Amino acid sequence: MNGGGDRGKTHPRKSGFTWGVSTSSYQIEGAAKIDGRGDCIWDTFCRQQGRINGGDNGDIACDHYHRYAEDVALMRDLGVDAYRFSLSWPRLLPQGRGAANEAGLAFYDRLIDMLLEAGIEPWICLYHWDLPQALGDLGGWTNRDSAGWFADYAALAARRYGDRVKRFATFNEPNVFTLFGYGFGWHAPGIEDRTALHKAIHYVNLSHGAAVDVLRQAITGVSIGAIHNRQPCYPAGPGREDEAATQIFAEYWNDAFPLPQQFGSYPPGLAEAITPFQKPGDMALIARPVDWFGLNHYAPHYIKADSSKVIGSSFGAAPPDVPRTAMDWPIVPGAFRDTLIDLHSRFRLPIYVLENGTAAVDKPDSAGQVRDMDRMAYLQAYTSAMQEAIAAGADVRGYFVWSLLDNFEWTAGYSQRFGIVYVDYSTLKRVPKASARWYANLIADARRSRDKATGDVGCGPAAQR
Ligand code: FCB
Repeated sequence: MNGGGDRGKTHPRKSGFTWGVSTSSYQIEGAAKIDGRGDCIWDTFCRQQGRINGGDNGDIACDHYHRYAEDVALMRDLGVDAYRFSLSWPRLLPQGRGAANEAGLAFYDRLIDMLLEAGIEPWICLYHWDLPQALGDLGGWTNRDSAGWFADYAALAARRYGDRVKRFATFNEPNVFTLFGYGFGWHAPGIEDRTALHKAIHYVNLSHGAAVDVLRQAITGVSIGAIHNRQPCYPAGPGREDEAATQIFAEYWNDAFPLPQQFGSYPPGLAEAITPFQKPGDMALIARPVDWFGLNHYAPHYIKADSSKVIGSSFGAAPPDVPRTAMDWPIVPGAFRDTLIDLHSRFRLPIYVLENGTAAVDKPDSAGQVRDMDRMAYLQAYTSAMQEAIAAGADVRGYFVWSLLDNFEWTAGYSQRFGIVYVDYSTLKRVPKASARWYANLIADARRSRDKATGDVGCGPAAQR
């Protein structure tokens, strides 16, 4: 099991490779109205007519809040080294700030202790999109005070869990929740406004920097990162317009957070729009040293000019010959390899892939088994692509599948299944899919190679059965 910081270590073959699974609080926990949890912006969003497929919400989800012991046992059977989950901010601080909720704090104590007993390293992400509604009412991420709220919340998490947890991420995919939540209006809080988007980008960056400082100060041996969704962006059509739109989209998608956080400056296309919200000294507060780069990768984006959108660009169609997943996301493993290599050369930080996986149409057969061949093929292709990137020199230290369980897939509700474990939503019964066995074999093979000190991280032919 890995522990502590990565700084100074140079290659996964020296420090061991971390295999894991990822989830997030709103998507799996349920128990939305008990033990003092406050509302979050997704509770509110789900109540709005027409926002979520089928009118679904996270009230029950996978009921992980009550079934966490069973879920830890599933992870132990998989043999993962680590589990990345997020804390529900409104479970710890129902009003977002002020009085803490002991029942909520105690839930994560139980989860963390059980993970450690099972030999699984807990990786905490502080924010996976469930902002307390009470803070949403104050403007949420468009309020500059959010940096202080977030730092106080980070301090509470550090005080309570920092004795047992050393891996902390500040934000999951700040690009997605700011662009979709404040720019396109597709995600909570459902705002479509250029000014709101730019404020949110800057204040989330400030919040990240503030939390890094708090965590670094409070926790001995802490290892900190942020989790960014990065995908190559290609023009959907041949014209100049789509080309220009792609360039600006890529700056929002790939660079609006990693660039300021790592290098202290905004990409050129954004700098002017952010200036009105910047105060002297802000960039130094944002660019705080981190220990690793968390990467979520799924598929390249095909972008078109779209004047109805606040950034003048939006998603277009992928070329018809590109294979797609059940989400209609293109399957291009080579884009994953290239993203890892590019990331390594640009940021020079150890990389942890903290989300990769696919939705598929999964149905139990007459024997109750779920034979998710499409997912196995996807994971095989993507882990092989990662192996190629490592062979080409990319410093990739870990890989986490999204997701352990089928769960609430945001606006798609429960219609899209990403788990390697099937969840029957009428009974909440968990059934490991064929891909769970495949992943357990991959990890076991990797561990054998590691023990033999061959230097192989286990994505090669030995794992392909
Ligand atoms: C990512 C999110 C995660 C999940 C996957 C499919 O963008 O971080 O919560 O929805 O996509």
